[in-house]
Amino acid sequence: MCGIFAYLNFHANKERRYILEVLFNGLRRLEYRGYDSAGIAIDDSLSRHPNQKCPSSSPPLVFRQAGNIESLVNSVNEEVTNIDLNLDEVFYFHAGIAHTRWATHGEPAPRNSHPQSSGPGDDFLVVHNGVITNYEVLKETLVRHGFTFESDTDTEVIPKLAKFVFDKANEEGNASLGEQTVSFCEVVFEVMRHLEGAYALIFKSWHYPNELIACKRGSPLLLGVKELNEDKNKNHVFKDAHFLSKNEHPKEFFLSSDPHALVEHTKKVLVIEDGEVVHLKDGGVSILKFENERGRRNGLSRPASVERALSVLEMEVEQINKGKYDHYMQKEIHEQPESLTTTMRGRLIRGGSRKPKTVLLGGLKDHLKTIRRSRRIVFIGCGTSYNAALASRPILEELSGIPVSMEIASDLWDRQGPIYREDTAVFVSQSGETADTLLALDYARDNGALCVGITNTVGSSIARKTHCGVHINAGAEIGVASTKAYTSQIVVMVMVALAIGSDTISSQTRREAIIDGLLDLPNKVREVLKLDEEMKDLAQLLIDEQSLLVFGRGYNYATALEGALKVKEVSLMHSEGILAGEMKHGPLALVDENLPIAVIATRDACFSKQQSVIQQLHARKGRLIVMCSKGDAASVSSSGSCRAIEVPQVEDCLQPVVNIVPLQLLAYHLTVLRGHNVDQPRNLAKSVTTQ
Ligand code: UD1
Ligand code: M6R
Repeated sequence: MCGIFAYLNFHANKERRYILEVLFNGLRRLEYRGYDSAGIAIDDSLSRHPNQKCPSSSPPLVFRQAGNIESLVNSVNEEVTNIDLNLDEVFYFHAGIAHTRWATHGEPAPRNSHPQSSGPGDDFLVVHNGVITNYEVLKETLVRHGFTFESDTDTEVIPKLAKFVFDKANEEGNASLGEQTVSFCEVVFEVMRHLEGAYALIFKSWHYPNELIACKRGSPLLLGVKELNEDKNKNHVFKDAHFLSKNEHPKEFFLSSDPHALVEHTKKVLVIEDGEVVHLKDGGVSILKFENERGRRNGLSRPASVERALSVLEMEVEQINKGKYDHYMQKEIHEQPESLTTTMRGRLIRGGSRKPKTVLLGGLKDHLKTIRRSRRIVFIGCGTSYNAALASRPILEELSGIPVSMEIASDLWDRQGPIYREDTAVFVSQSGETADTLLALDYARDNGALCVGITNTVGSSIARKTHCGVHINAGAEIGVASTKAYTSQIVVMVMVALAIGSDTISSQTRREAIIDGLLDLPNKVREVLKLDEEMKDLAQLLIDEQSLLVFGRGYNYATALEGALKVKEVSLMHSEGILAGEMKHGPLALVDENLPIAVIATRDACFSKQQSVIQQLHARKGRLIVMCSKGDAASVSSSGSCRAIEVPQVEDCLQPVVNIVPLQLLAYHLTVLRGHNVDQPRNLAKSVTTQ
């Protein structure tokens, strides 16, 4: 999905070369989100010293390119040579903006890339994440006022509207050159009043040199603050006054839609809230906000100043590097023993001689009674997150005794399906920013349900909008294909089931067995990761296939869906996860000696049924790959030839965590062998922030 990055240096000498590199690097950090074009805007030469005020400011330089970041870098380098731009030139302060675009309105092309412009002279430039739903009406109005549009984007109305507002205010105010009658903030507030939809925006204008404005509604946006020459030994108290008030200390500001682009510069961040307008000027940060949505729309109320404190980003730079691995997906598959350990850290209480083993989820403990009283638990998510919820449904039903229903977020919203105040709605999302899930969350909140979040991203929209929840703490997941987040999500939901069921004596032995299983799970995952080479061999065998079916049932119906999703999204081979109980109701017709079929038949309550499925597939000469528990390879192959993958056996509700790993490895190797992009599969984005 689109990514925003901006860099403002204040009272800090930076060469143009350095500024460009910071912007490009910011964009590289956003690459994983998925994009098809990119662009940046930097200052021309004239506004580089504080003594040079507005009159000498001049239009910025804008570079936009379809394709990857390196195409943008190459085109900037070419242009730099053509216009003889001095890369060694030093800027005492400077405000640069950058963007990666994932095409929604209009094909990937330079004219559709961001920054989008107010027109000739580039008075206002805007980078945007999200969708402006009323852009057609705004466009018509602006066209009537003489504006000419160059792009097919919804975004272009924003800088043009800013110019319209600015020109109108200055006509009315009789501004003298360099002394604007309207502040940058006022322009942006007026623009925001007219925008409908979801957005995170950064505005740059040469009428307001060395200032940037960021605002958001729906889409995520963070501000990072780095004070240069900072006393490292000083024990910082993050009082807003220290960083946010204007002062002469040299500092750098970074704005990004994603913490990954900030962490290498600073961990001191401000998560910008909906409706806030953040103004970077003269080394200070001011935050203004309309009191309510009606205030925004009718323009009657004036925005008020807001005080906010900086928070500390809980992320390490190592998390966003590939380390010894070739790809992020590979790294993230292999780090699952560690990510699972982190997910469980401090949450499993081993008990004592008299005390039972138990689970402590800080984010849920005050809400457990309400959840236990709910009439129904509804799991809501998309893609892999939905699959993780599906894998956890049986244990939640078993331990809570509450009916659990499943909803794909977009489908719930499309149907406006019934959600009641007696429901607990659980929103599962790695990014915490998925548009469909967020819409369903707003809907469930409006209907009075208790909303619980299961997210990986602290400070994400879902984490903030839910009443309570649990962070999965799996660490940054950069590969578009979700792997370690999936296994951590299942573990968290199993822990949620244990916590909800913890008041039931009759299930105590079962709960303690699961807790033991959880404690040993990282070891079991370490063991199953040893199948790497075997899965590579299997991938080699399947490299030219058109399709792969995956049959599962019970706890491992989700494994079938998730395994197939992994294979199709990265290796671009058709793959379908099928509930084995449905085999005879249609899919059996596909079975022949050519089509590869993976059957998950590890030992649990469905084992004998899966054995019968295997026999029936053998009887039709099916080309089988069977995933079975250690020691079962001979018996599953007894009724016909098949390739067996033996995995360690664990508690039934944890088996999906172990079983998905070989399929993740298979998807990874298939993709590499087929020569596709593992980390950024065709047409996909990591965080799907539009509907
Ligand atoms: C929290 C701290 C953790 C600290 C631990 C010590 C955070 C983010 N976590 O972890 O650093 O080590 O206490 O006791 O500061 N929430 C939602 N929706 C969501 C996810 C979470 O509302 O989707 C809420 C929770 O209800 C809770 C808060 O966010 O109020 C933190 O959740 P979580 O990190 O899971 O809590 P702890 O594990 O207790
Ligand atoms: O961030 P979320 O978990 O809400 O994302 C939901 C899906 O877009 C996501 O799981 C998607 O299916 C994955 N790319 C699959 O690997």
